[in-house]
Amino acid sequence: MSLSEGPVTLLVVDDEEAIRNAVRKYLVQQGYEVAVAATGEQALEVLRRRKVTGILLDVNLPGTNGIDLVPQIMELEPTVALLMLTAVNDATSAALCMQRGALDYLLKPIDLTHLGRAIARALERRHTLLEGQQMHQWLKEEVALRVAERRVEQATQERISVATLEALVNALEAKDPYLRGHSARVADLSASVAAHLQRSDEEIEAVRTAGRLHDIGKIGIREEILNKHGPLSDEEYEHVKQHVLVGCQILAPLAHLGDVIGLIRSHHERWDGSGYPDRLAAGAIPLGARTIGAVEIYDALTTARPYQEKMPPEEAIDRMRELVGTAIDPSMHEALEAVVSRRQALVFLDDVPR
Ligand SMILES: [Fe+2]
Repeated sequence: MSLSEGPVTLLVVDDEEAIRNAVRKYLVQQGYEVAVAATGEQALEVLRRRKVTGILLDVNLPGTNGIDLVPQIMELEPTVALLMLTAVNDATSAALCMQRGALDYLLKPIDLTHLGRAIARALERRHTLLEGQQMHQWLKEEVALRVAERRVEQATQERISVATLEALVNALEAKDPYLRGHSARVADLSASVAAHLQRSDEEIEAVRTAGRLHDIGKIGIREEILNKHGPLSDEEYEHVKQHVLVGCQILAPLAHLGDVIGLIRSHHERWDGSGYPDRLAAGAIPLGARTIGAVEIYDALTTARPYQEKMPPEEAIDRMRELVGTAIDPSMHEALEAVVSRRQALVFLDDVPR
């Protein structure tokens, strides 16, 4: 990091020609490039045309005076080293100018050696200020970069953790031919229903992830119950119901899942409040959980089970009508019906010989 700048150009602003010339001559001898201006307006004109490092500005100028010029100069050239030239009896004006951004002031009549030292000091101060600003900017950029890198890393880790859990669900489902692919299908269709309901992208993704992981808690259910193909006893049913809570416990350490965990907890709630685990009813059940709940029923009906033939989509939607208002949110049934018939239409189109 370095402050590489070209030659140092100074601008001398004074209405007295003799002073301008004397100061210019001296500063040129000192190795500076020098521009001059007799009025504030001329000074601003020079600043608009060229890069200026330092300015010697007389407080008493015809037209716009030095005090009023300071803010205009600072706006055009915020990093300029500004020195005021002022009469002995005008310390108040000089103080005001310094408040507005001037770095120093010199009393008239000007002692040239004194002037040379004051300019060198002001340029040095400007340099330090610029370095500080640059360091600050550099630090800001570094921090922003690190934060962005950390975010990418975190997002990758989050994806990996979800992918690992999905693999676990897949492994669980693979054991049962009737369950194979269930969570992936539920996730896919639930996300389509959420999109149909015009949910935000974030909500749709939460529903998709919850769909994939909604039955992860079945890992904690005894295998003989999980694989039982007949009706469950009361005790067995109570045990199966635990899978929503076990799922939440498994996922609880993954803070990034946020709302997803709530959707998983509530995917067995029913519209009439007779579901589990919290007996939530109607609108109190998170919308995403109502979506997954309805889609899960649909998936169960449209997949072959030991005790049931696989139902065609339209028939499943019809059968689910019986559950509207008790197990299923009426608007969710409507949305599911719309999405399923759209999918069916696409399948039909695919089947039409071209
Ligand atoms: Fe479930």
